[in-house]
Amino acid sequence: MILVTGGAGYIGGVTAEKLLKLGERVVIYDNLSRGYRDAVPRAATLIESDISDREKLRETFQRFPIRGVLHFAAFALVGESMTDPALYFRNNLAAALTLLDEAQSAGVGRFIFSSTCAIFGDQNPSPIAETSPKSPINPYGESKLAFERALHWHHQIHGMAYFSLRYFNACGATAERGERHDPETHLIPLVLEAAAGERDAIHILGDDYPTPDGTCVRDYIHVEDLADAHIAALNAGPELSGCYNLGTGRGHSVREVIDIARRVTGREIPTQVVPRRPGDPPELVADPSLIREKLGWHHRHDLESAIRSAWEFKQRS
Ligand SMILES: NC(=O)c1ccc[n+]([C@@H]2O[C@H](COP(=O)([O-])OP(=O)(O)OC[C@H]3O[C@@H](n4cnc5c(N)ncnc54)[C@H](O)[C@@H]3O)[C@@H](O)[C@H]2O)c1
Repeated sequence: MILVTGGAGYIGGVTAEKLLKLGERVVIYDNLSRGYRDAVPRAATLIESDISDREKLRETFQRFPIRGVLHFAAFALVGESMTDPALYFRNNLAAALTLLDEAQSAGVGRFIFSSTCAIFGDQNPSPIAETSPKSPINPYGESKLAFERALHWHHQIHGMAYFSLRYFNACGATAERGERHDPETHLIPLVLEAAAGERDAIHILGDDYPTPDGTCVRDYIHVEDLADAHIAALNAGPELSGCYNLGTGRGHSVREVIDIARRVTGREIPTQVVPRRPGDPPELVADPSLIREKLGWHHRHDLESAIRSAWEFKQRS
């Protein structure tokens, strides 16, 4: 049985859906602060609670034979973390430590953590390898990096297997689940809102970066490929414990994303160039060699397939 924290959210919900299809039993642990009850797959058991609630966690680990924790529950808005850093350290570090503690005490063998490319900051040349310097430029990235270090030491001292998966830009949808953040800050859903006429134009945050077309380049990874990586980490030997960069290895600029979205949707998508946002690195692309080699994971979807799935999800919802 697998405990999925944050399974009422975007990536956790898709991963839970995939685990259930593989015949795994799933308990979702989510306080619904930023998730949706209807995103919880019907076949999963939902525990509506906070990961800072030690008693509830203890009771959950006693009640279910959990062999692995997939820990998605966190706050993930960079801008919010810049105005309320304590919120981020409390939820993404302190509350996560309570979860880790209780998982460890209950004898759970494996912990898989949703980390992020935000731990690398804005100074690294692309592609970014696991060994690239870590220098977060916001409390969100810092809180994730701090928890990675806690996991490393838990592994060293208590022997718990761990896999920290540093996602680059998650995108796309399954037939039933997709991105529903509020506020939405991610490029692809915003572009699709513009395509659907729900916003006047998509703002391009700077077109004078040192990239081929002047707009920022990111590594977009389909949420189903992310889910597959979690399944690979659940099945990998414990000696492969560690941190893995998780992206496709291919970058796309903001303008490329918009062009693909125009092709997929057949809509106009008006754009407006506005000034750069502080702290946006020109390019963030993963070097996924390590996860390919050690966990045998490979992405299956390209950006067009991700945008198409997100557009289909948007039209259905
Ligand atoms: N979306 C991305 O592009 C991206 C990129 C890198 C890393 N990540 C990480 O992946 C994870 C999932 O991201 P997402 O986009 O699915 O986010 P999401 O906001 O859709 O889902 C997070 C879920 O966690 C729950 N949650 C938050 N704090 C909780 C708490 N204290 N107790 C119980 N439940 C709690 C929320 O209610 C929500 O359902 C996060 O840890 C995020 O930092 C996401």
